[in-house]
Amino acid sequence: MCGIVGYSGPQSAALPLIQGLRRLEYRGYDSAGIALGTPGTLFIEKKAGKLSNLENALDASLPTVHSGIGHTRWATHGGPTDRNAHPHVDNDGKLAVIHNGIIENYSELRATLQARGHKFSSETDTESVAHLLSDLRKEHKGDLAGAMCDAVKLLRGSFTLVAIHADNPDVVVGVRRNSPLVVGLGKGENFMASDVAAFIDYTKRAIELGQDEVVTMTPTSVVITNLKGAVIVPKEYEISWDATAAQKGGFNHFMLKEIFEQPKAVADTLIGRLSDNKQIVLDELHMSIEEIRALKKITVIACGTAYHAGMLAKYAIEKWAKIPVEVEIASEYRYRDPIVDPQTLVIAISQSGETMDTLMALRHAKSAGARVFAICNTHSSTIPRESDAVLYTHAGPEIAVASTKAFLTQIIAVYLIGLHLAQINGALKDVQVEELYNELLELPGKIEQILQTAEPLRALTRTFAHNNIVLFLGRNIGYPVALEGALKLKELAYIHAEGFAGGELKHGPIALIDSGTPVIAILPVGDEHGLNEKMLSNIQEVKARGARVIVITEEGANIEGAEHIIRIPVVPALLQPILATVPLQLFAYEMALARGNDVDQPRNLAKSVTVE
Ligand code: AGP
Repeated sequence: MCGIVGYSGPQSAALPLIQGLRRLEYRGYDSAGIALGTPGTLFIEKKAGKLSNLENALDASLPTVHSGIGHTRWATHGGPTDRNAHPHVDNDGKLAVIHNGIIENYSELRATLQARGHKFSSETDTESVAHLLSDLRKEHKGDLAGAMCDAVKLLRGSFTLVAIHADNPDVVVGVRRNSPLVVGLGKGENFMASDVAAFIDYTKRAIELGQDEVVTMTPTSVVITNLKGAVIVPKEYEISWDATAAQKGGFNHFMLKEIFEQPKAVADTLIGRLSDNKQIVLDELHMSIEEIRALKKITVIACGTAYHAGMLAKYAIEKWAKIPVEVEIASEYRYRDPIVDPQTLVIAISQSGETMDTLMALRHAKSAGARVFAICNTHSSTIPRESDAVLYTHAGPEIAVASTKAFLTQIIAVYLIGLHLAQINGALKDVQVEELYNELLELPGKIEQILQTAEPLRALTRTFAHNNIVLFLGRNIGYPVALEGALKLKELAYIHAEGFAGGELKHGPIALIDSGTPVIAILPVGDEHGLNEKMLSNIQEVKARGARVIVITEEGANIEGAEHIIRIPVVPALLQPILATVPLQLFAYEMALARGNDVDQPRNLAKSVTVE
């Protein structure tokens, strides 16, 4: 996820651009850059790292011009370097473009444009668009909007693009496909941005662009067309948020915003992962077919929520690829003298890529000769840098300390690995892999459905606010979900919550049940292994001792004795955790609110634990 800003008006453009980027830094902070509309040749400055690096580079040499574009980056293709920072320009240095999203067919485009003589200077997918627009603008005799319309027809993926050209510097052109772009209507000035936070200090009049709509903006005009050039009458609206709320997209907390971003995070992490010939695309693994077939064991190392994703990796990889998987708490791993050899693949899962426990475990595994594959949400952080290969999740920056969207995308990542390994070693047929991949593609819509029907659960949660113990029960792939639900509640509500394997209840924990104890039971999908019956018995056992039972189960199931039933869409058993987790995230969020806690920055915690 990146932050995009455009401006055209009487102000010195750098001011509203930098201010806008500061408001959008939560969308990505790997690098930042601006292009200013100096007639003849654009003024470009861009720096890796936080926005402050760009500001420091700007202070002396800033021309006073009245239009420009700005970008703060969350790296997807190409690490966070000066060269990969946006804006990207054509070879004349007269056309600049900034981009949020993923251009799936960028490498084919790059090859075609290089064959036409374009010279590339970055590793990004975005730069292909700069050279493409440059060619198309010439065909359109200098009309940048016409060039943009034709460029979009050649692109695959999800993107917002904003461009400017030195020959008409006060004209800024933007387009969106599956990625946000809003226009701010000022007095004698106009703005474009990824979200209204960027310009809310200047105007509260806004227009939200629709799919495949192109906007051409000058200080005194905003024209919106479809890709055929037909003018569209925009719907203007009044922004009701203040600046702080706007950074959270209108949500009260980053955590709630990130919970609601999960459909897009999952969708983005799945983009382009099945080739036209039905093969899982996981080039990042950098392992030959022979090496994959020679694998004897996989060891997953992680902490906290990432560890729970690792537990699900075990179920998926063993079921699909028939490769033994052990899951280790990273801080314990190296002290037990683990058995490691070149036929061991170690998977290190980390949202931040800076967790010291995971990093130290990774170093130990490497020193023992294992190949290490990282799953990470933060580009070029330490763990990916020290691993042999990395699969980046596309959850975008996760600001809240309690991990939500990163967790779901970590599960997606380990499922993709499981399908890839199974396809390579023949444990699954291509048709089975395609079927499962298509089920994964259905998940964003099903997550959205849960989010849109969660109000009754959120209201019910508030009746538990006084409880100081909550138990979570799950079996099989529901067990890691129970652990994750308990961890969320510990982190956010500061109460003693515990997740148990349902079968363990009778071996001690049932003594914890008292009258009114809330118990959340995750019922398995379908009735594989007869687990449903056993979980229903668990529900009766706790109910008989006075527990208040909330059940998460699939649509259509009937449950005796539950105080509240949360129904989630039916999916194949292994995919249920991705859906069953969402209500538990909302439960923890509402409990934190009801208890007056700091949701985004809970006490005693940090977003990345960089000490052992
Ligand atoms: C999850 O909500 C917690 N914030 C914590 O358990 C976290 O998952 C753990 O510290 C690992 O962090 P990482 O994914 O950045 O390595």
